Amino acid sequence: MTHKPLVLSGMQPTNTLHLGNYLGALKNWVRMQEEMPCFFCVVDMHAITADAGYGKPAELAQSTREVAAAYIAAGVDPKRTPIFNQGQVPEHAELSWIFNCVARLGWLDRMTQFKEKSGKHKERSSVGLYTYPVLMAADILIYKATHVPVGEDQKQHLELSRDIAQKFNNDFNAPDFFPLPEPVITGTATRVMSLRDGAKKMSKSDESDNSRINLTDDAAAIADKIRRAKTDPHPLPAGKDELAGRPEAENLINIYAALSDKSQDAVIGEFAGQQFSGFKSALADLTVAKIEPITREMRRLLADPAEIDRILKDGARRAREVATPVMEEVKKKVGFIA
Ligand code: TRP
Repeated sequence: MTHKPLVLSGMQPTNTLHLGNYLGALKNWVRMQEEMPCFFCVVDMHAITADAGYGKPAELAQSTREVAAAYIAAGVDPKRTPIFNQGQVPEHAELSWIFNCVARLGWLDRMTQFKEKSGKHKERSSVGLYTYPVLMAADILIYKATHVPVGEDQKQHLELSRDIAQKFNNDFNAPDFFPLPEPVITGTATRVMSLRDGAKKMSKSDESDNSRINLTDDAAAIADKIRRAKTDPHPLPAGKDELAGRPEAENLINIYAALSDKSQDAVIGEFAGQQFSGFKSALADLTVAKIEPITREMRRLLADPAEIDRILKDGARRAREVATPVMEEVKKKVGFIA
C-alpha cells in the first residue's frame, strides 16, 4: 500500500526566529506547499521539556504566536495549510503514550541530542526531554505524514520515527498502517552561520544579538547588523578555492546567494576582488528588501494576537479531522475499548 503524500513539520516556540530559520526551513516549507499538502505545527509541548519554555506560560504563549506569525509572514498560507500548536491537538499526546510503549530504552539511549541537551546532569533533566523524540514520532505519524522537512540535526530523530512506525506495524499486525516517513533535509545548502563567528551556526541562544538577524528586526537593525558583521582583512575571493579558511566571507556570500536565489559561484563572480564595505552594503540592501517585508508582516500579525489565536484554532480543528480517525484505529489495534 502506498500512503498519500503529506508533509508535516514543526518548530519550537522558544525565543525569536532568525534568518537561519527562514533560509534553512521556512523558505522550503513555502515551496513545499506547492508540491504536496502540508501541516505545520508549533511544538509547544516540546518547548516545555526544557527550561527555555517551562514554567513561563505568558512567554510560551507569546513565542507560540510569534512562530505562527513567522510561518504566515514567510508565505505559508493558513487557508491552504493548517497551522496549529501541538497542545491544541490532544491526539499528539495520546499517540505519544502508545509510542512510549513501542520504543525501546536502548533506542532512546542512543539519541545524541538528549546527550547534548542534558549535559553532565542527566538526572536533573525532565523525563519529557528524554522522550522528546517519541512525541516527535507521534507528531508525524498521527497524520500518517510521508515527508518531513528537518535540519540535519533531526535526522536521528526521524530514523527513530521510522523504527517506531515499523515496530508498531509489526507488533500490532498492521502491515503498512503507518508510513515510514522520509526526511527532507533542508538547510544544508544554506547553513546560515553567526555574523560574529563563521564557525558557529546562527542561533537564537547566542548571547550576542548582533550574531543574528531576527525575524522581528526592523530595516535599520538588519542593515546595521550586516554592516557590523565580522569579516577578514582581504577583499572578496576571486574563486571558490579562495574561500578556504575564510568562514565569515563564505557565510556572507552564502546568505547573499540564498536571498537572491543565485549560486555561490555566481555571487563570487559578481563581487570578485571587491572590498567588503561595498559588498556589505549590497548585502544589507538585499537582506532588507527580502526580509523586511516578512518582519513587517510579522509585526502586523502580532499586533492582533486574537487573530493568530483564531488561525491556530482553525488549524487545530482541521488537524483533528485527520488525527481523530487515525487515533481511533490505533486504539482498536492496541485493544483499548472505545
Ligand atoms: N524536534 C524538531 C526541532 O527541534 C521540532 C519538531 C517537533 C519537529 N516535532 C516535529 C520537526 C515533527 C518535524 C516534525 O527542530
